[in-house]
Amino acid sequence: MLPLLLLFCLLFATSCAAPGVSVLSNTLLSSSGIYFVSYDGLVNVNSFQLSGLLTYEGYQYAGWYTSNRSVILGRRTTSGGSWQTLALPHTLTTNDSHNVVVLGVSPADGVIHVAMDCHSSAVYYTKTSSGVAGSSVSWTTNLFGTITNTIGSLNVGSTVTYPQFVVTPDNLLQFVYRSGVSGNGNTQLAEYQSGTWTNVGLWASGSGTYTADNGATSSARNLYIHGATYRGSRFYITGTWRENSGSVSCSSGGLTNHDTTFFYSDDKGRTWYNAAGAHIGTSGSSPMSVSSSGIVVDSLDANHGLMNQESQDVDSQGRIHVIISYVPGRFTQCVTNYETDRIAHGYPFHIYQAANGTFIKTEIPFPLGAVGRSQIALDASDNVYVVLPYVRVVTASKASGWTDWSLVYDGSAQGLNAFGEVTIDRGALVSSGRGTLAVLYQESSSGSTPSPVRVVQFQMNG
Ligand SMILES: *[C@@H]1O[C@H](CO)[C@@H](O)[C@H](O)[C@H]1NC(C)=O
Ligand SMILES: *[C@@H]1O[C@H](CO)[C@@H](O)[C@H](O)[C@H]1NC(C)=O
Ligand SMILES: *[C@@H]1O[C@H](CO)[C@@H](O)[C@H](O)[C@H]1NC(C)=O
Repeated sequence: MLPLLLLFCLLFATSCAAPGVSVLSNTLLSSSGIYFVSYDGLVNVNSFQLSGLLTYEGYQYAGWYTSNRSVILGRRTTSGGSWQTLALPHTLTTNDSHNVVVLGVSPADGVIHVAMDCHSSAVYYTKTSSGVAGSSVSWTTNLFGTITNTIGSLNVGSTVTYPQFVVTPDNLLQFVYRSGVSGNGNTQLAEYQSGTWTNVGLWASGSGTYTADNGATSSARNLYIHGATYRGSRFYITGTWRENSGSVSCSSGGLTNHDTTFFYSDDKGRTWYNAAGAHIGTSGSSPMSVSSSGIVVDSLDANHGLMNQESQDVDSQGRIHVIISYVPGRFTQCVTNYETDRIAHGYPFHIYQAANGTFIKTEIPFPLGAVGRSQIALDASDNVYVVLPYVRVVTASKASGWTDWSLVYDGSAQGLNAFGEVTIDRGALVSSGRGTLAVLYQESSSGSTPSPVRVVQFQMNG
């Protein structure tokens, strides 16, 4: 008897294999990116950068630190021009891989925004004048204004981490960030309109009490988000909580991250709903918290080395897809060293919301082989592409119900020598009609020896 899937493919004459990718280009941004490993990562490539690499109206932009610690911004035309660079008058303050360079564009006025160099500290921010993004104006440092510790005139405090820019359906730019510290922080939202940044407010609070399965309690935490994605008029966010109290885990060598949460907003982050459509929070006056009802869509205790800030995307039917990763229970029920345990036994998982509302989780049958995170992207036909550490691309077809996972590009076998975690260009997905996947990576090195920073661009063949 024919397997059901194959039968379906024959009956409906659809192509059912997991889609492949082909390399369009692999270009050098810098031969000497700054190199130091901190928190298992490099400062130039982190999955939580939204965005470190950003396509907007015919240009691709990138930001990184070079070996003399300066912030370099690169630009090229998407038609295959060579990279042009400028240096901002700012140098990396400390060797901390959180302190990424993040780019955003406000489409209404063509301003490029840059936020950088913070970890529970003041952010550094600058922007261009109007009309620079998507324009051929010569690429020089004086396009950018003074670097400030505020976002325009908005004071976002002195404990900022994970600055992320996202564009709303009506072309406003928003700024999502954490205030406070790991295990005791609040997730915040600001918005840029007509040249001015204003506060929308705190939408996910770290307060409240969490009681773990082992009976231990924790009285503070923070939400780590897997991204912030608009599709249609809906704003989708998935995440995981990190508890302040180590007693919720079986071992101090683990991570206190637990559960996968999902929320959405249909008014650009003012009011929030759970997957069942119940109103569960209002930014500013009554933010969501660990006690909000119906927010956990995949439950997992704090004993499995669950990673924070992986990635998410939304398909053409408006359904969320997210990648999480952890050490499955068949290896251990108690991760005692999240770094070595994730390298030895960590797997990525794909979670999506099915049409009937249920969240479905599938283990992707390719081990992480790394501490770090993976990136997910969908093509125009809703096939899923996941960039695992070392630029290994695995895909699954929509026709299979995202179950036919295949390794279609292996950056290790191709000799990329990528450090591990990468960041992808979500703007390139949009501008190419979800046909192009662009990946920023840095080559592996040792000690403090600088290494090349590169962009590999793939055609998605789904
Ligand atoms: C670092 O090098 C770049 C050229 O790659 C240069 O433009 C910049 O001024 C240098 N920064 C410092 C602090 O010397
Ligand atoms: C919901 O849809 C999924 C995926 O198609 C299916 O596996 C599951 O059984 C469905 N659940 C219910 C309650 O119908
Ligand atoms: C920070 O990183 C640079 C570049 O890798 C290295 O030269 C320097 O020694 C590091 N500083 C500290 C304090 O570790």
